[in-house]
Amino acid sequence: MMDVGRHPNIELLAFAEVEDISGYVGNFKARVRKKARYIDETQCTSCGECAAVCPVVVPDEYQVGLGSRRAVYIPFPQAVPSAYIVNADECLGQNPIACGKCIEACEKKCIDFEMQDRLIDINVGVVIVATGMDVYDPTALDEYHYTQFPNVVTSLEFERLISTGGPLEGHLGRPGDLKKPERVAFIQCVGSRTENPQRGNPYCSNICCMNTIKSAQYLKDNYPGIQVTVFYMDLRAFGKGFEELLMRSKSNGVQYIRGLPGEVQEDPANGNLWITFENTSRNCLETHEYDMLVLAVGAVPAASTEVIRQMLTLSRSPGGFLKEAHPKLRPVDTPSKGVFIAGAAESPKDVRESVTQASAAASRAAILLNKSKFAVEAITAVVDPELCKMCGICAGVCPFGAIQWEKKQVAHVTSAACAGCGACAAECKFGAIQMRHFPDQAIYAQIDAILEEQPLEKIIAFACNWCSYAGADTAGVARLAYPPNARIIRTMCSGRVNSEFIWHAFRSGAPVVLVSGCHYVDCHYLDANRSTTRRIDGLWDGLEKYGLRPERLMLEWCSAAEGTRWQTIMIEAEKKRLGVTAQEIEQTRASLAQAKVPSPRNPRPADENQPAWFTCLRCGHHWSSPFGANQERICPKCRANSVRWLREAPVSVAATQ
Ligand code: FES
Repeated sequence: MMDVGRHPNIELLAFAEVEDISGYVGNFKARVRKKARYIDETQCTSCGECAAVCPVVVPDEYQVGLGSRRAVYIPFPQAVPSAYIVNADECLGQNPIACGKCIEACEKKCIDFEMQDRLIDINVGVVIVATGMDVYDPTALDEYHYTQFPNVVTSLEFERLISTGGPLEGHLGRPGDLKKPERVAFIQCVGSRTENPQRGNPYCSNICCMNTIKSAQYLKDNYPGIQVTVFYMDLRAFGKGFEELLMRSKSNGVQYIRGLPGEVQEDPANGNLWITFENTSRNCLETHEYDMLVLAVGAVPAASTEVIRQMLTLSRSPGGFLKEAHPKLRPVDTPSKGVFIAGAAESPKDVRESVTQASAAASRAAILLNKSKFAVEAITAVVDPELCKMCGICAGVCPFGAIQWEKKQVAHVTSAACAGCGACAAECKFGAIQMRHFPDQAIYAQIDAILEEQPLEKIIAFACNWCSYAGADTAGVARLAYPPNARIIRTMCSGRVNSEFIWHAFRSGAPVVLVSGCHYVDCHYLDANRSTTRRIDGLWDGLEKYGLRPERLMLEWCSAAEGTRWQTIMIEAEKKRLGVTAQEIEQTRASLAQAKVPSPRNPRPADENQPAWFTCLRCGHHWSSPFGANQERICPKCRANSVRWLREAPVSVAATQ
C-alpha cells in the first residue's frame, strides 16, 4: 500500500466512495465522494495527541470489536496516508462546540471541523473492481452459541487475538477471562457448503481449511503444550506447499477429527466448552471439553460489491460474487467491455490467488489503455432513424446500457458498449433495430429453408451461441443419441429471438419450436435471457388465444457442459413433434392467417398515458405508472430492466385495493 501511495502514476483517493460510474470502454466517467476527514492529511504527523485526549471510546472495527478506539483514530496501523480521521457520527461535535479537546491538543492545527465532502469527477478508460469479501456471521447457527458463549470466536476474531497488533498484543488469551487456553478446537465449514440457506452458502469458501491449518500450526509452534483439535468434513489442502503444511501440523500433534459438532455447551463454573460430535472415523458419538472454540467461518461477498455491480451492470454468480466473462478463457474480464475484476470480488480466494488475478487484471487493463483504437464486436445493434418511433423500449431492455434515448428522440446505440446480444432488436416492434451482419432477414431465410420441404418432420430450435449451441455440440462430441429432427438456428443470445420469428415458423408449418439459452445466471449478456422468458410468456398466452397448443413452443435452458440435458430436451421435443398432425398444422396456418396475428411480444395498452402495472422479473416488485416513459421499464426498487407489463393489477395488489 505504501508503494501505491508513493507511485507517481497512481492517485490514491483514501476515505472515498464511488457514487456513480457511467460510459463505456475508453470513456468511463466516475463520480467519487471524497469524504471529509476533518483533519488535513497532508499536515497530520500521526502523533496521536488528538486521540489521547478524545473522550469518546467505541469498538474498533479493525479489531472486529475486540478492542476499542477513539472517535479520532487511524483506521488501521498500515493505513495510507498515515493520518488521523474524525468520525463525525461519533464525535461529540463542534457546532455548537461540545468538546473540542482534539483541536486544543493538535499542535500543528490540522483539525478543521469546517471541512466538507468533495465530489470528484474522473474520466477513466477502464475499471478494475476489487471490492474483496466479508466473512459469514455465524450467529444464526444456534448449536455453536456464538455471541452467547464468550469463548466461542470466529476465525477472523482469532486472527486478531493472536496478532501482535491485536488487542492482546500477541499474547494468547480467550475473550471470556483472558486466560491462556490449553485446549483449542476449530470447526470447519461454518456457513459454507450447505444447501440450507438458513445455515450459510452452498459454495466452498476456499481459504478456511488452510487458514485453520496455519493457525493450528502457529499455536503448536508458539505454545508447544497446547492441545489443538480440528473438526472437519473433508480437508482441502490443494496448492503449492499446502499439503506439506497439513502433514507438518499433523506430525506436530494437531488432532484432525472427521465429523462436525452438533452441540456446544458451556460450563458456567469456568467458561469451558463441552463439544459433542459424531466421530465418523470411529462411528461413535463423543463429547470433549475445550477452553476455546474457533469457528472457521466462510466468505461472503462484500456489501459494496452489489452497489458497484449495479453501477456497472455486471452479472453475479449464484453466491453473489461477480461473474467473470468466461471461467477458463477470460477469468478477469466481465461481460461489460473495459471492466475487469480482481481478488475476492470474483470468488473467495487467498492472497496468492488474489495477487495473481490482480496482476492479470492490471495487465488486461494496460493492454486496452495502450491501444489507440478499440475493436468492437462485429455484430452490434444499429438503429434505423426512419423507422424509430422514439418509444425507448430498446434502451430499457439493453443489459449494457448501450442505448441512449431521450423522450421524443431517436434511440442511439454506442457501438463500443454494445455486446451484440440482440435483445433490443427482438424487442423493437417497429423493426427499427437490426443487428449488423446478422439481420432479421438472415433468420427468416433460415426458417424458410428449413421448412421448405417436409415441415412436419422438422423441429425449429433457436439455440444461443454460448450455452445451448455448445451444449448441442457437447452432446454430439459425446456421441449421445437423440432424434435428428431438430434444425438449429444459432443466435448470439436467446434474447435475440424475436416473437415474429416464432410466429413465422408456425405460419410456415413448424410443428414444434424450441427456444433454448443459458441458465439464468449464465447468460453471457448479463440478464438478456430474462427478456426471453418474458417474451415466451407472452407468446404462450398468444398461442392459446389463436387456438394453438402452447406446448408446441418450448423454452429450455441448457449449459455448454450439459450434453445429456440437450439429449433429453431433444427427446422431449421429438415426442411433442410426433403428437402434431398434418391436419393440426393446416389448422394453425388457417387460424394464424385469419387472425392476422399481431406480434404479442410486447402487448401495450391502447392509451399510452393510461396507468399500467409492471412487475419486476428479478425482485418481484409491482408498481404502476404511465406506460410511455422509458424509466417505467426499469424496476424502481432493484433497478433491473427485466420488467413485465401486466394487463391488470397483480392479484396481491388488487386484493389490497
Ligand atoms: Fe445464452 Fe444469453 S447468451 S441466453
